[in-house]
Amino acid sequence: MNKEKIRWGILGTGNIAHKFADALRYVEDSELYAVGSRNIESAKKFASEFGVSKAFGSYEEAAQEKNVDVIYVATPHNLHLENTLMCLEKNKHVLCEKPFGVNGKEVRRMIAKAKEKNLFLMEALWSRFLPNIIKTKGMIESGEIGKVRLLTAYFSFNSVNGPEHRQFNKDLCGGSLLDIGIYNIFLSLFLLGKPKEIFASAGFVKTKVDGSCSVTFKYDNEALAVTFSSFLANTPVVAEVHGEKGKIFLEDKWFCPTNIRLTDSKGNEKLISFDFKGNGYNYEADEVVNCIRSGKTQSSLMSWDASIELIDTLDSIREKCGLAYPKHDNIQ
Ligand SMILES: NC(=O)c1ccc[n+]([C@@H]2O[C@H](COP(=O)([O-])OP(=O)(O)OC[C@H]3O[C@@H](n4cnc5c(N)ncnc54)[C@H](OP(=O)(O)O)[C@@H]3O)[C@@H](O)[C@H]2O)c1
Repeated sequence: MNKEKIRWGILGTGNIAHKFADALRYVEDSELYAVGSRNIESAKKFASEFGVSKAFGSYEEAAQEKNVDVIYVATPHNLHLENTLMCLEKNKHVLCEKPFGVNGKEVRRMIAKAKEKNLFLMEALWSRFLPNIIKTKGMIESGEIGKVRLLTAYFSFNSVNGPEHRQFNKDLCGGSLLDIGIYNIFLSLFLLGKPKEIFASAGFVKTKVDGSCSVTFKYDNEALAVTFSSFLANTPVVAEVHGEKGKIFLEDKWFCPTNIRLTDSKGNEKLISFDFKGNGYNYEADEVVNCIRSGKTQSSLMSWDASIELIDTLDSIREKCGLAYPKHDNIQ
């Protein structure tokens, strides 16, 4: 694609749509061109806030806009499949928020459609593209802390939202695992690979989704990954990787760290700081733009296989916890 600018459309005008729209200002040769909302007034307000050319009162109209090249799907989890398929059908490339789909079946359907239409599709797992997460992976691979023995990751906060909010709403596929625990699971898979065994348990809230979820991965070499997500507890949001020769500590908020601390076996600590550009969401958008320009249908950094491994692991965890979303899980 040799166009001067890549033109984006956004579906949804909520929290993450705002952050992503802000991030696009830091992405070269990108323009936020259209926004679609269930409500035309929300679309117009969003458009005026971010200087968007076209505001639509439906997702379909935004996806249909002929000048749009790629759509960012920023709706609740339960709509990711439907919205992504609709955009691909209208011949748009897609960046879809995490979790990509609610389960493996949904993710495979999304990927199959992208293949059929020969269009770009990627899961918006922004941490994957952040410099300090990439740096952590590099340090482990180059043996700086030796063989990894233990990974711990916590992503928890005390949510003030009520039962209708998407965090707790079963119809919107709420619960801590798919919303924030997914980052812990991503980190474990990214740094340590696929586990041999999974142990998991969840604490359910009144809406029958997991308020809290703990997951342990056991690896062939006896390494463990111990992770915890919750909307009910204010834990530090930190991660740590312990190796035979040292450890790496990812400071609060570990999923978008500016500081990581490398400690060697003698206890000497080195601070590695990286003040990232923009608000961080621009890194995943950069990858989308680069891939589309080079005619790729998937990213090698957040590949379709990586998304399938992630969702299949989440499916296994949900099964062990007894956490089901019948409207999605029972569809053939
Ligand atoms: N990458 C990250 O750091 C990050 C952070 C937060 C969330 N996320 C992901 O992004 C997605 C959206 O999260 P969010 O925090 O932006 O949620 P949010 O603030 O509730 O916004 C979601 C938007 O989706 C649209 N929507 C469509 N049907 C809806 C329904 N039944 N109830 C509520 N909203 C509905 C609404 O936009 P309109 O009214 O304009 O149609 C709403 O503003 C989730 O899948 C989440 O996992 C990612």
